[in-house]
Amino acid sequence: MFRAIFVLLAVFCHVARLQSTATCDLFTFPSTFKFGAGTAAYQIEGGWNEDGKSRSWWDWFTNNYPQYCNNATGNIACDSYHKYKEDVAAMKAIGLEFYRFSLSWSRILPKGFSYSVNQAGVDYYNNLIDELKAAGIEPLVTIYHWDTPMALEYLGTTWTSPKMVDQFVAFADLAFSLFGDRVKLWATINEPKSFCQGIPGYFLTYIFPELPMGTLEYLCGHHVLLAHAKTYRLYQEKYKSTQNGRISITLDLNYNMPLTNSTEDIEAAERRNLFEFGWFAHPLYYGDYPQIMKTVIANNSAKQNFTASRLPKFSCTEKLMIKGSYDLFMVNSYTGTQVTLKEYNNEPSYINDEQTSGTQPDHWLSTAVSNLKVYPEGIRYVLKYIKESYGNPEIMITENGYSDTTGNVNDTLRIEFIRETLGNIRLAICEDGVNVTRYTYWSLLDNLEWARGYGVKFGLVQIDFDSENRTRTLKRSAYYYKNVIQNRYINVTDSTE
Ligand code: NOJ
Repeated sequence: MFRAIFVLLAVFCHVARLQSTATCDLFTFPSTFKFGAGTAAYQIEGGWNEDGKSRSWWDWFTNNYPQYCNNATGNIACDSYHKYKEDVAAMKAIGLEFYRFSLSWSRILPKGFSYSVNQAGVDYYNNLIDELKAAGIEPLVTIYHWDTPMALEYLGTTWTSPKMVDQFVAFADLAFSLFGDRVKLWATINEPKSFCQGIPGYFLTYIFPELPMGTLEYLCGHHVLLAHAKTYRLYQEKYKSTQNGRISITLDLNYNMPLTNSTEDIEAAERRNLFEFGWFAHPLYYGDYPQIMKTVIANNSAKQNFTASRLPKFSCTEKLMIKGSYDLFMVNSYTGTQVTLKEYNNEPSYINDEQTSGTQPDHWLSTAVSNLKVYPEGIRYVLKYIKESYGNPEIMITENGYSDTTGNVNDTLRIEFIRETLGNIRLAICEDGVNVTRYTYWSLLDNLEWARGYGVKFGLVQIDFDSENRTRTLKRSAYYYKNVIQNRYINVTDSTE
C-alpha cells in the first residue's frame, strides 16, 4: 500500500517537474515580455537651435570645449528632430514593442521655467508620440537624460542646488499634463550615479578646479532623489487616477565581483554595489542611504577636518516621501567588473570614499568603450542582486548594448552579444525567479556617445553621418532582433544568414 502511494507520488512529482521546466523554456519569451530599444534627446535629435529651442548644458559644452569632446557636437546628430518618422519606420521594420526616448528640457522650456512653453517643442514630441502609437509602438519616456537648460545653469540651478528639485518637478508636471494621456511608462531621471560622479563632462574639474569634489557628488545625488520622489508623489496625487501610468528612475549597475577570495575584495565588491546602486536604491526601498555610505563618508569627512559629514541627511518627512517612490525597478546594465580594495586616499571625493578599483580580464572581448568589455553573464547577476536586495520587485532592463567603432551593418558580434544576453535573462527568469518584464537594447541608432563623440557605435541602425540625409540602414543585428521579437525565441543561429 505504502509502496503504491510512494510510486504514485514519485510519478506525480516527475510529471510536475517536467511541466515546470516546460513552462520555463530557456529559449522562449512569453508574450507578456516586451522588447524595445532606446535613445536620448541630445544623442540623436540635432536641431539644437531650431524653432525656439535654447541651449542645454551639453550644447554649451560641446560647442565651447571641442577639445574635450572629440570635436563632436549634437548640433545635427542623427537629425531625428526632422527624421523622427524615419526612426519610427525603422522601429516598425524591426518590430519593436516599445521605444525609450527622452525629452529635451530646453526644447520644451527654453527659459527652463514652465511659465514659458515653446509650442514647437511640444509639437515635436506630440508628433513623435502619435507616430509611435500609430505604428503600435509604446512610448517609454525619460524626462531627464542629462541635458539641463543653460538658462537654469546660469542661475546656479543644477543638481548640486536644492533649487533644482522644484524646477524639475515643474518640468515633469508639465510633461505629464502634455503627454500623459498617451505615455504610461515614465523614467524620471537617467543614471544619476553617472552624472553625479562625473561621467565625461558635467562636473568639469579640468576646467573648474575649484569645484568641491567629495561634496558635490552627494549634493547632486541628494537632490536627484528628492526631485524624483516629489515627482512620483505629484503623479500619484494629480495624474494617477486619470492617466494610470507607472513611474521609476533608471539606475545603472554593472555586476561587481571580487577580484580574489580575500575578505577585502569581497567587501570591496559589495561596497561598490552599495555606493553605485544602493546610493539611490536604498533610499527608494528603505528610505535612507546605505549604512556603509553614512559611516565611511562621516569618518572620512572627520579625518579631512570637515565639521559635518559630506553626505547630506534626509529629514523624517523626506525619508517617508522617498521610501516606496517607484512602481518598479529600471536598470541599465552593460558588463561586469572585478573589484579590489584601493589604497586609502585622503583627498575628498566620492571615488576615494568608495575606495575600490575595478578591472576586466584580458580575455573578455573589447568594445568601443574601454570599460564596457563583453560579459553577458553580468546582467543575470545584476537582476538576481536586485531581486535579493530589494524585495523581488518587477524589473525592466532600460539599457543594455554592444558598441563597435565601425558601424558596419555586418555586425555579427552584436548579434552574439544580444543572443548571449537574452539567454542570461532567461536564466535569471527560469533559474533565479527574477521578475524581469522588459528588455531595452541600447541604442536604436548609432549616435553621439557624449564626450566620446561619434566613433562609438551602439546602434541596431546605422547612420551615415557623412551624408546630409543621415541615411538610416538596418544592421544585421536589427534583423536578428526582429526575428527574436517575432518568434519570441532566442535563435542560436543568425537567422539573417
Ligand atoms: C548610459 C547612458 O544612459 C547612455 O546615454 C549612453 O549612451 C550609454 N550608457 C552607453 O554609454
